[in-house]
Amino acid sequence: MNNVRPESMERITNFDLANKFIDEQVKAIRNQVGDNKVLLALSGGVDSSVVAALLIKAIGKQLVCVHVNHGLMRKGESESVIEVFRNGLDANLIYVDATERFLGKLENVSDPEKKRKIIGAEFINVFADEARKLEGVKFLAQGTIYPDILESIKQAEGKQAVKSHHNVGGLPEDLEFELVEPLMLLYKDEVRVVGEALGLPHAMVYRQPFPGPGLGVRCLGAITRDRLNALREADAILREEFDLNGLVGKVWQYFVVVPDMKSVGVKDESRYEGWSAIIRAVNTKDAMTATIEEIPYAILHKITNRIVTEVEGINRVLYDLTPKPTGTIEWE
Ligand code: XMP
Repeated sequence: MNNVRPESMERITNFDLANKFIDEQVKAIRNQVGDNKVLLALSGGVDSSVVAALLIKAIGKQLVCVHVNHGLMRKGESESVIEVFRNGLDANLIYVDATERFLGKLENVSDPEKKRKIIGAEFINVFADEARKLEGVKFLAQGTIYPDILESIKQAEGKQAVKSHHNVGGLPEDLEFELVEPLMLLYKDEVRVVGEALGLPHAMVYRQPFPGPGLGVRCLGAITRDRLNALREADAILREEFDLNGLVGKVWQYFVVVPDMKSVGVKDESRYEGWSAIIRAVNTKDAMTATIEEIPYAILHKITNRIVTEVEGINRVLYDLTPKPTGTIEWE
């Protein structure tokens, strides 16, 4: 497929257009891969999920999905990938729990860029190990979308990226695949319409963005298991409360960050040193700039109350009021 979106290409805004796109892609994919196997790293993000659903429709069990749990997923996330794809869509899904591998490599590493690079490289290692175990796989599917193409054109023109993002590019040379990238001319909103037309759950298709390195860049500094667990629990409470209070879909991205720092507090009349949970809730159009959302105080109080009473190790909750710039959306 040519990687420049023709001006004449109609924006996919409804199911009719989405179904037309799906029919065309199903034919194109069958044409491209024949009866070969196709491998896909299925993170559970919108793009890889929609590619998976599209390929399952086109080639069924010829698609082999690999879901790598790097131990930095949000609460319940890997379970939902398994539920939707293995149980719901009958996908050929390999689940790899690589938590120990990742957390081992990340031990005592505090530099944000080093952490990102370790997570990205280890992801490729784990995925490559799985790929080598499989026979006869000639193709690799990727959830590349049009903004990714535009971004790489910008980078090729010498504009520097602020953070190193990770994807499955850069696999070792013994693993040479031909790429299948059926979404590469679509914008995100079109990917979501296609996802819903393919029958994926609304929550998965409208899932807020989640960085490749996952909670690894929200558990600031050197990651420890107890702080990571506290972050995961606090984040789950935040998401649950946003859901209950109708904020999902109104706030673009919301999450908890836990810095590597304790403060003095009090619990049961005793000194209680604990971590702080920082709430970040931003709105943006393109993630290049971001504004802060005014979350009603009553909701913030409820979230604070729940986090400090339900999450072991956290004694304070803070709200980050910094727009981008100067803050980036993530803290690392
Ligand atoms: P920043 O922190 O740069 O984030 O303002 C902008 C958006 O990108 C997401 N993000 C990532 N997404 N891989 C991704 O796929 C990554 O490594 C990564 N790092 C940041 C971030 O969550 C925000 O939506």
